[in-house]
Amino acid sequence: MTDAPRGPLIAPSILGADFARLGEQVGAVVDAGAQVIHIDVMDGQFVPPLSMGPPVVKALKALDLGVHLDVHLMVDRPERQIADFADAGADTITIHAEATPHVHHALAAIRDRGLRAGLALCPGTPPAVVEEVADQLDLLLCMSVNPGWGGQKFIPAAIEKLEVLRALVSQEVVIEVDGGIDLETAGAAAEAGAGWLVAGSAVYGSDDVAGRFAALTAAVS
Ligand code: DX5
Ligand code: ZN
Repeated sequence: MTDAPRGPLIAPSILGADFARLGEQVGAVVDAGAQVIHIDVMDGQFVPPLSMGPPVVKALKALDLGVHLDVHLMVDRPERQIADFADAGADTITIHAEATPHVHHALAAIRDRGLRAGLALCPGTPPAVVEEVADQLDLLLCMSVNPGWGGQKFIPAAIEKLEVLRALVSQEVVIEVDGGIDLETAGAAAEAGAGWLVAGSAVYGSDDVAGRFAALTAAVS
């Protein structure tokens, strides 16, 4: 497993990339300094779209870029997928609090595999669900859009929620924010406590992905 950087940093989401040029587009952000690559997994159940699975994680791992592979599982019953993503080379696996009655068990299973465990909360999920599992977390993901699609608008209430979440867990836990991060929203999210800021369309919405990554990084530094 690669080390987990603390941030604040931009974690490019490959959901926004050109899948026909995936290796090249991930390489471009890594060359520009990206330390964390965010991988969005969707099952057509927990969220309507289908996206990608363990073979994509395995392919990125095989590139041997020395980056942290941050897998965001937007799937029902994520505990059933942990072994396959661990085998594929994930470094952090994040499950949704809304996706299983067995959050405690699933987080424990991720750490049992030697990986970092993350919990994600949808915009409508109250922060209090974190309290029972706070000591099982390496990462806490605050969704700032409803999960399922890139290119949505940042929900302003996420700023206050980030502050609440930051105060709920120890400083060792990385707070991640995901959805609608761009040059206008990144600075405020970082100030509110986000260490990892996921950006899909703001990075990959232009051919100059390195330039976009650099500009966003400057906005949170
Ligand atoms: C949304 C995904 C996000 C998505 C973000 O469900 O979890 O990671 O890629 O895309 P942008 O940055 O375009 O909002
Ligand atoms: Zn995501």
